[in-house]
Amino acid sequence: MRKLFGVIGDPIAHSMSPLMHNDAFAQLGIDGYYQPFHVKSADLAAAVHGMKAIGVQGFNVTIPHKTAIMPLLDQIDPLAKAIGAVNTVVRENGGWTGYNTDGAGFVQGLREECGGPLEDKRVLLIGAGGAARAIYYTLASEKVNQIDIANRTLEKAASLAESCPYSVAGTVKTTQEAEAELAAYDIIIQTTSIGMLPLIEAAPLSVENIKPGAFVSDIIYNPFETKLLQEAKKQGARIQNGLKMFVYQGALAFEKWTGQTPDIERMADIVRHQLGGNYVNN
Ligand code: ATR
Repeated sequence: MRKLFGVIGDPIAHSMSPLMHNDAFAQLGIDGYYQPFHVKSADLAAAVHGMKAIGVQGFNVTIPHKTAIMPLLDQIDPLAKAIGAVNTVVRENGGWTGYNTDGAGFVQGLREECGGPLEDKRVLLIGAGGAARAIYYTLASEKVNQIDIANRTLEKAASLAESCPYSVAGTVKTTQEAEAELAAYDIIIQTTSIGMLPLIEAAPLSVENIKPGAFVSDIIYNPFETKLLQEAKKQGARIQNGLKMFVYQGALAFEKWTGQTPDIERMADIVRHQLGGNYVNN
């Protein structure tokens, strides 16, 4: 019988995950189908229990359910528990197990494009929301040398660092401090919504003092090159947008569900095609 997978969120209509996963099923000859489900917060518990009852094999979780779903699951992977968010749910021994592949997806894409070991790198993380937490904890668990956090609200940055279960050196910085000390960083990771549609003319900080050859990664992929990435490139930095993170978080979920590795480049092409070259205006 065909195995059913999906993604739950609100809104969900513009999710690019169904195309990506259904293509991977076809490519690998797996009899599976991935369906978007529009689930409102009030219906989350009913949806999670209902999907178990009808035999769904696994699903992704997106905004606004990544944290709210946690008490509804049977087991939660320790890293997802520490991050406080689940984006991937797998049926294991008849129950639901929650994982977080956002952080690991980001780090896989970073390792691929940044080059060299991460263990000796000094990292500046911009932002202290859910995405920043997943990335910080995963980088800390992979023994990066130092991670400083710059955020508008300093207390949020401090509490993110304090609650991390993996020890890593680092401090919190105001935006002004981070700008002044930017030359100290090998890798700069942007996790806020600044630069995303409709804020495309905004950047979270000035990159005037960036180290030439530094690597700047922005988790936004629409627009494909945020203002921050454009400015960083002008200063001689290497840049990466959020496409790889999106594709790898999906690929890691796919592996957990099927035990098979999808074609990453094909997945990335599907997302690029779906954005249709109209990255800025849609
Ligand atoms: P997500 O879960 O998607 O990461 P979030 O939890 O809403 O989103 O976090 C958004 C991040 O972007 C936060 O770091 C937020 O800063 P604060 O902690 O000060 O709220 C940051 N952010 C969003 N809009 C911002 C703005 N206009 N200026 C500065 N920081 C902003």
